[in-house]
Amino acid sequence: MIVSFYKLKFQTDNLYLHNSIIAIFVLNFFMKIKNICCIGAGYVGGPTMAVIALKCPHIKITVVDINKERIDSWNDSNLEKLPVYEPGLADIVSQTRGKNLFFDVDIDSAIKNSEMIFIAVNTPTKTYGEGKGQAADLKYVEICARKIAEISTSDKIVVEKSTLPVRTAEAVKTILDKTGNGVNFEVLSNPEFLAEGTAINDLFKSDRVLIGGDQTESGMLAINKLVEIYENWIPREKIYTTNVWSSELSKLVANAFLAQRISSINSISALCEVTEADVEEVSKAIGMDSRIGSKFLKSSVGFGGSCFQKDILNLVYIAKSLGLNEVAEYWHQVIKINNYQKIRFAKNIMKSLFNTVSGKKISLLGWAFKKNTNDSRESAAIYIADYLIENGAEIHVYDPKVTYSRMLSDLNDLGTRTTVKNRESLFYHNTPLPACFKSHAIAVLTEWDEFKTYNWEEIFDNSIKPAKLFDGRNILDKKKIEAIGFEVYSIGKS
Ligand code: UDX
Ligand code: ADP
Repeated sequence: MIVSFYKLKFQTDNLYLHNSIIAIFVLNFFMKIKNICCIGAGYVGGPTMAVIALKCPHIKITVVDINKERIDSWNDSNLEKLPVYEPGLADIVSQTRGKNLFFDVDIDSAIKNSEMIFIAVNTPTKTYGEGKGQAADLKYVEICARKIAEISTSDKIVVEKSTLPVRTAEAVKTILDKTGNGVNFEVLSNPEFLAEGTAINDLFKSDRVLIGGDQTESGMLAINKLVEIYENWIPREKIYTTNVWSSELSKLVANAFLAQRISSINSISALCEVTEADVEEVSKAIGMDSRIGSKFLKSSVGFGGSCFQKDILNLVYIAKSLGLNEVAEYWHQVIKINNYQKIRFAKNIMKSLFNTVSGKKISLLGWAFKKNTNDSRESAAIYIADYLIENGAEIHVYDPKVTYSRMLSDLNDLGTRTTVKNRESLFYHNTPLPACFKSHAIAVLTEWDEFKTYNWEEIFDNSIKPAKLFDGRNILDKKKIEAIGFEVYSIGKS
């Protein structure tokens, strides 16, 4: 009797154990991320999700945006019309779109049907109220958090992809927990380190992937879910997990350090121009010291892009608001040198044209903030054009990827003058020769490779003499161009 009781109990326990194992297995299986939603189909959301879709064919990814025109462009059968120009991106989109990568305006359904939601909306510098001109404007992030809270009926992992000030995750979590439908939210910080123009390669071979999350059991589980996604192509040792605040701050600090190197070498370029030193030689000489390293020491007309200025101003604002004025001032200097570099370049053009550009044609080659992108946010070209137009010049621009409407709205956004006046002063060309025809000065502002291959003899023959060329990126062969007859001004050379 006793024997049969134990026999029965053993069988029952075994069955229980067996069922539990199945239950855990099933639970784990279903807990694997199978649906991702990304809010924001811009320069970060688009390329990042395209690469995740390519590397994780088992995950369905829906990228949503409030901007219908942008979503339509992502869905355009003509891949030339994708809203983001990035080498290699169109190819990936053609392989994944309609299979496991979708672009949609139906934000609610995408949120509802996903276990993981990336927030990749814009966080521009505030243009109003407290923190104007420095703090990040988080209104778009807040709208997303409220939307996720309102729509969600099942547990979600929310991933901050946009660059955000430290402790934003706390604010997002508060909104989610206080206004949600009682479902559990885990908030992770997973900052993007891709650089535009090389985004696809950066995503394929990231130096590191950073994931910050709560150090609780559920926080660690959420971190693990995101690690599992990246592990599909990034070696585990390159995935670094931290607490959420370290992750948020590291993004700002990485950009501040990179920008600081450019401002440091740019400050030395001014010194080189009034001495016999050559900034490229100085850059090479210091970069050969392995403690310094050679990257991000290329002197230029000034850095641009949507991140560096915004993130440093953000850091400055955070430091100031915590009473750390010396820290704030230290980092603010990086921005001040960058502004100085851009205006110094514009002033040099004017000085060489006998101190007046009024009524003169100035040609700008390049409007994008760097090569291989159609992005012009915070590009040095905008500020140089603005300065010259303010002094009466006619600006003629050629850029292989930036459109006229983008250029015009960049100028309008500065608010220096009326749209009508900007339209009268800015001339767009879709080929380089007419842009340079009969101009008083030509300035190279973006390092597009094609500029190096132009027939500079022909351009010289069609220039007003003395023909002046300002190489804001030091990409042209100075000796060769001078031999043609141009007066050449390079950055950081006497
Ligand atoms: C930057 C960071 O590199 C990236 O990690 C982060 O995720 C976003 O911000 P991005 O702004 O896309 O990327 O381009 P980046 O290559 O960093 O260039 C920024 C600006 O600095 C450009 O205007 C570029 O021309 C300029 N630059 C860069 C220099 O003037 N000199 C250099 O040596 C390097
Ligand atoms: P980034 O360079 O950070 O990707 P972009 O400006 O290129 O910045 O892209 C951000 C995208 O986020 C834009 O297309 C914008 O329309 C979108 N966006 C902003 N707010 C929302 C929102 N509340 N819901 C959906 N999309 C949003």
